[in-house]
Amino acid sequence: MATGSSQAPAQTESAPSSAQTQKERLFPWVKPYYSDPLTLTSGKGVWVKDDTGREYLDFFAGILTTSVGHCNEAVIARVEDQMRRLGHTSALYITENQLEVAETLISLAPDGLTRAAFTNSGTEANETAIMAAQLFTGRSEVVALRYAYSGRSILATNLSAHAGWRPLPTSVAGICHARSPYVYRSPLGPDATEEDQVNFFIDDLVETIETTTSGRPAALIVEPIQGVGGFVVPPPGYLNRAAEVIRSYGGLFVCDEVQTAFGRTGERWFACEHDSVDPDIMVMAKGIANGFPVGAVLARAEIADAWTANSISTYGGNPISMAAASATLDVMQAEDTPGRSSVRGAQVRRAFLTLADKHEWIGDVRGKGLMQAMEIVTDRRTREPDPGRALAVLEAARAAGVLVGVGGLHGHVVRVGPSMLVTEDETAEALSRLEHACEIAASQD
Ligand SMILES: Cc1ncc(COP(=O)(O)O)c(C=O)c1O
Repeated sequence: MATGSSQAPAQTESAPSSAQTQKERLFPWVKPYYSDPLTLTSGKGVWVKDDTGREYLDFFAGILTTSVGHCNEAVIARVEDQMRRLGHTSALYITENQLEVAETLISLAPDGLTRAAFTNSGTEANETAIMAAQLFTGRSEVVALRYAYSGRSILATNLSAHAGWRPLPTSVAGICHARSPYVYRSPLGPDATEEDQVNFFIDDLVETIETTTSGRPAALIVEPIQGVGGFVVPPPGYLNRAAEVIRSYGGLFVCDEVQTAFGRTGERWFACEHDSVDPDIMVMAKGIANGFPVGAVLARAEIADAWTANSISTYGGNPISMAAASATLDVMQAEDTPGRSSVRGAQVRRAFLTLADKHEWIGDVRGKGLMQAMEIVTDRRTREPDPGRALAVLEAARAAGVLVGVGGLHGHVVRVGPSMLVTEDETAEALSRLEHACEIAASQD
């Protein structure tokens, strides 16, 4: 026990806050939201609690990742059981639950995708997909879309077309970017038909291949709804035509479903299915394991089998990640996440359209299923992005007890993507809080 003489001197300085320690100890790119960053300490379903005990409705779900809700009991039970039996083996031995997850993904995926590989993130999964496409085609050039986000590695930041997410100047050769099928910002204007829009963006894709590649691209990589780009939904028919175009040049169609998979966009398991496209390679991550670090790539057998060189991922497909993925996929199937996202997404969409009727600065409402966004502008006529107002909505929403996200090239798109198990009442409550947040943001002129 301490005696008087060995007692620590009285503290004169208060302990640093978590936000201060984060600033001093982490790389500055680990950047939390909010002027006064939020420390979350627990969660259940669509609810999270901060370090003061205050509760919030989490309508961004760790960037569309806690697909079946925080601390889902079925996921916890499966992971706990796996951790008690065997935590890690590496890829040098067969991991049975990896095979089980592969079987499930292949059964849910569009036709033809019959081989799986597992990684630790979406970035790594995109790296794997592009390398597979290059190995199979014997080519190197890759076409991506402007406004894309593919991850944080050197290749992925070069595939991304969003200056804010590209820390280095272009450093990977052979990547070019066609126009994003971003109808709200299309040069054709708001009155063009969907068919005209599709033709315009497809013509641009063809011209990009013809003028900025050798004409022999390995692949086109596309997010069926651009996530970080601001939930940019292509006009119907675009994905199908884009797949036809890249195949006509001998390249593969790579679909990055990192944000959009597992029913997130409603009705279908994968967003590419809305346009009836069967990708050659499909990439998944985020919602696949409810927050455990898992990425996955599915490919046609002949593409996967063209990769004969050595490769290994120490953690990719490890028993614990696979237990989490397996349990999450079981919950998603039992709960019909595509159906749920459709219904709850329609509820969110109706509320967003009502908000847009009320606030001139909501220039566009878009999305599919439980992936809905409002693009914030200074003036509907000029469509000038208004990141300041989007930030005001984000902050006011937090104050009202609901967490949302921002995205878009200028951080001017308010995005929501809660757990797909969110209930009608929880959705109504979150929307009422967001409505209040918009009133507050509107008054800050
Ligand atoms: C469409 C898309 N692809 C890839 C990634 C990268 O995934 P990760 O952050 O798991 O590396 C993201 C992350 O936001 C994404 O939205």
